[in-house]
Amino acid sequence: CGIIGIISHTPVASRLVDSLKRLEYRGYDSAGIATLDAGQLQRVRAEGKLKNLESRLDGEPIAGTIGIGHTRWATHGAPTVANAHPHATARLAVVHNGIIENFRELKAELQADGYSFESETDTETVAVLVTREMDRGAAPREAVANVLGKLEGAFSLAFLFKGEENLLIGARRGSPLAIGVGRGEMFLGSDAIALSPFTDEVRYLADGDWTILTHDAAEIFDEDGNPVDRPVTVSAGKPFYVDKGNHRHFMQKEMFEQPEVLSHTLGAYVNMTDGRTRTPKGQELDFTKVRRIALSACGTGYYAALVGRYYFERYAGIACDLDVASEFRYRESPLSDVDLALFISQSGETADTLASLRYAKSQGLKTAAIVNVPESTIAREADVVLPTLAGPEIGVASTKAFTCQLMALAALAVRAGVDRGVIKADEELEFTRALMEAPRLVNEALHLEGEIEHIARDLATQHHALYLGRGFSYPLALEGALKLKEISYIHAEGYAAGELKHGPIALIDETMQVVVVAPHDRVFEKTVSNMQEVAARGGRILLITDHKGAASGAMDGARLLVLPDMPEILIPIVFAVPLQMLAYHTAVQMGTDVDQPRNLAKSVTVE
Ligand code: G6P
Repeated sequence: CGIIGIISHTPVASRLVDSLKRLEYRGYDSAGIATLDAGQLQRVRAEGKLKNLESRLDGEPIAGTIGIGHTRWATHGAPTVANAHPHATARLAVVHNGIIENFRELKAELQADGYSFESETDTETVAVLVTREMDRGAAPREAVANVLGKLEGAFSLAFLFKGEENLLIGARRGSPLAIGVGRGEMFLGSDAIALSPFTDEVRYLADGDWTILTHDAAEIFDEDGNPVDRPVTVSAGKPFYVDKGNHRHFMQKEMFEQPEVLSHTLGAYVNMTDGRTRTPKGQELDFTKVRRIALSACGTGYYAALVGRYYFERYAGIACDLDVASEFRYRESPLSDVDLALFISQSGETADTLASLRYAKSQGLKTAAIVNVPESTIAREADVVLPTLAGPEIGVASTKAFTCQLMALAALAVRAGVDRGVIKADEELEFTRALMEAPRLVNEALHLEGEIEHIARDLATQHHALYLGRGFSYPLALEGALKLKEISYIHAEGYAAGELKHGPIALIDETMQVVVVAPHDRVFEKTVSNMQEVAARGGRILLITDHKGAASGAMDGARLLVLPDMPEILIPIVFAVPLQMLAYHTAVQMGTDVDQPRNLAKSVTVE
């Protein structure tokens, strides 16, 4: 979901919608805008995609040189027009991301005071609270300041006031919000991509900040109400932004960017002249005394963390704990021998991951975060920032960010091994030489597209799929199944191949599609045995393996997808690619909205 606000001297309605289009990638299920026309509030909202909002605006265009807009991903209340933002009262309109956790108490209090409500949302409570302050005589800025102190939870907000053609107020706690600085114009937006059509001068609000915008100035206050200055950053959103090129979807474009962005990411962790691993300048990490690492993340980032655990344990001999972030933050794990908490997030804004980071800090742990958005909240709050240089990822289903996370983790694990004396200098060079082969091998994997498209035609006729893998291929089985279900809506599960016999084997018959990920590694023969257990029960098998695996002849009867042979450390990175591509082409066959699958959001800033 996303927020935009514009204060200008020229009409804003179509620019608001334009900017919302840039935010579409975050996922949403309704949208709306509000403006002031001769001081009066105007509002148009629609269910579903932005084209519905646009056709409403064609029918009832709204004028005005100041306005706010929103794409909503439903949390409280169904994605209906009544629940869509902006929410409005006689005095103001507001758009909101995040959740106001104490809205029920506040709403009850307002109802007891005689105020009535039109929607089921927590947002409307904010609109009515500010209205009550103003009914009691407060000016807009004072009213907002009073109300911010009453709200619990994580949110970002933008307010537009009746009769105030030169005033927008924004606030953030938890969810991101940035100011775009124009010439005689000011903007508010959830991220630099939303602001990119208008300006590349961005001032990021810090957590707890709120701001008062006029045409020519932005006053910023911290959570205690003290005036603060936030520096202007020249955003990279513009040059990157973002068209699909010759590709049909952003997801496809992003898969094909992988060779390039992997080499950029590797460059941050390996000195290309001497082949030694390192962390980026100013972000030093010494693994010498690290006994245990606690890893945590959400979604695809969590599967990257699972690969990370295999990397750290195997190459550096460091034990790892691993949690999905929504569990880590509440698990109350004794962290006594944990010396580093490592978080992984593409957006750097995921609420659960951010809360986990804060929890780890509150326990006195050193924190590091692998993030793709350098200006994000997680990047700002972690002690050590480990970048992935994947560039903006627009497709909701993560692809290039995932493989770049794996690249960062692989290089870090090697670095850790060197720090701890488990990896000798010549071995380090062998590892980094291997990592440098990733772009070439990923490129070869991308060349399997035609073959994968063919396989996807069959997969698209199935209702279920089971993904199996062992060792490094186990997290990939999980990620492959996640990709398939996210974008094709085919039910898919990932399992450790060795667990097949403990449950999922009961599901196997001739209607069950089984995707086996099995490079010719240390556990290849074991996985092949599991595959044979599937074959014996009539399951339909697709085996994704390498040349050596294919040549072993162990899998007669299975359909094969064959990748080049490669060093073990590269298996997760390269084998991820055919799994992404298989999900992608299956979804294309099914005719789903690949870049914005139903019910999903790119960056989830609620719990
Ligand atoms: C959402 C996205 C996933 C992503 C997850 C974590 O659920 O749809 O693709 O993996 O959030 O996001 P993060 O930005 O923290 O990596």
